Amino acid sequence: MSEEARRQLLKMLMERSYQYRPDNPFTLSSGRVSPYFIDCKPVTNSASGLALVVVESCAVDPSGVGTPRMLRAYDDSFLDDLARIAREIHVGGALACCQINHTGRFAFVEEPLAPSPVPAFGRTPREISLSEIPGLRQAYAAAADRVKRAGFDMVELHGGTGYLLTSFVSPRTNLRTDAYGGSLEGRMRFPLEVVASVREAVGPGFPVGYRFEADEWLPDGFQLDEARPFARALEKAGVAYLSVMAGTYESFFLPEVMERSARDGYMADLAAEIRKEVSIPVIAAGRISTPELAEKILETGQADLVGLARVILADPDWVQKALTGREDDIEHCRADCDACMSQVMGGQSVACAAWPVEKIQYVKSMAEE
Ligand SMILES: Cc1cc2nc3c(=O)[nH]c(=O)nc-3n(C[C@H](O)[C@H](O)[C@H](O)COP(=O)(O)O)c2cc1C
Ligand code: SF4
Repeated sequence: MSEEARRQLLKMLMERSYQYRPDNPFTLSSGRVSPYFIDCKPVTNSASGLALVVVESCAVDPSGVGTPRMLRAYDDSFLDDLARIAREIHVGGALACCQINHTGRFAFVEEPLAPSPVPAFGRTPREISLSEIPGLRQAYAAAADRVKRAGFDMVELHGGTGYLLTSFVSPRTNLRTDAYGGSLEGRMRFPLEVVASVREAVGPGFPVGYRFEADEWLPDGFQLDEARPFARALEKAGVAYLSVMAGTYESFFLPEVMERSARDGYMADLAAEIRKEVSIPVIAAGRISTPELAEKILETGQADLVGLARVILADPDWVQKALTGREDDIEHCRADCDACMSQVMGGQSVACAAWPVEKIQYVKSMAEE
């Protein structure tokens, strides 16, 4: 992506104020889209004020499906559903981005794949052979092409949460001794090759973003010192923006990480560190609970954009309330609650615990097959 195209992308996003990441897997257990997903007010409401809707991660390959309700992008039979989502996002006035992913060692399959056989939650994944690597690259590329054909404006690679791309860069989960392991250069080879394949598949002018793991928050894991050069390498490889996150399923529930994650703006400092390394836009997320905090993050230059997930799940009118001076009416995500994450991990459809009971019942009924 040229410098000019990058600047244009940032301008386009900034003009629309806030980014929104829905992260509501209102999908049916077959991976098909539920009526509620399409009905989802924050996505389709043209007055929402949202800049960019990043649709939750869609599997690039059957071996990378993380939960029964995960969206999928590995076959043209999913094209119509993806196209419906993109259309509805556009009706709402936002740019549409679709995240693609292989859940690697956390996959909900008989034989999860990983760079090395490092056990996860009692299951030992199978080491990916050298001969399988081109096929995996191709799976990401084909899924990205499908996202483009479905009418999305951009695609995002999920490089966080300990999924396949993170597991390659992590010294904890990548113990390989071939060209795809060892030094940081070897460990980042696969993600960079995936970026190259995806870039080639979607062609110039179609932005490819990256959900970026800045720190696994594990003592032997991938940490900020290695994240800095990796961020620079991704920029060089043509990534359009970095959406910074931290933690993996293996650290999210550690007491110290839970304590840290309960704080407002808990990943903004990491976004700020990554922003020092690159000139592409950087997105900060993580309990950006109030418009005041969002403004502070932007004004102090910690990030170029803010991402809202649970924040806006708890109150779909967050942006509207922010724009019309009704901050005091915002319904806040509860810092001591992990209901939505537990529902996702348990393969259920998501209903926020802060919603009125009738809405929870309605959403659950829409998600039934
Ligand atoms: C239920 C749930 C599902 C999520 N799904 C995704 C996902 O598909 N892709 C992704 O990059 N992040 C996902 N996330 C992480 C969020 O994007 C975000 O980084 C994190 O929740 C912090 O922001 P928040 O405090 O506004 O929720 C998910 C989070 C939750 C709680
Ligand atoms: S209140 Fe609970 S269920 Fe609702 S968004 Fe926050 S963590 Fe998720």
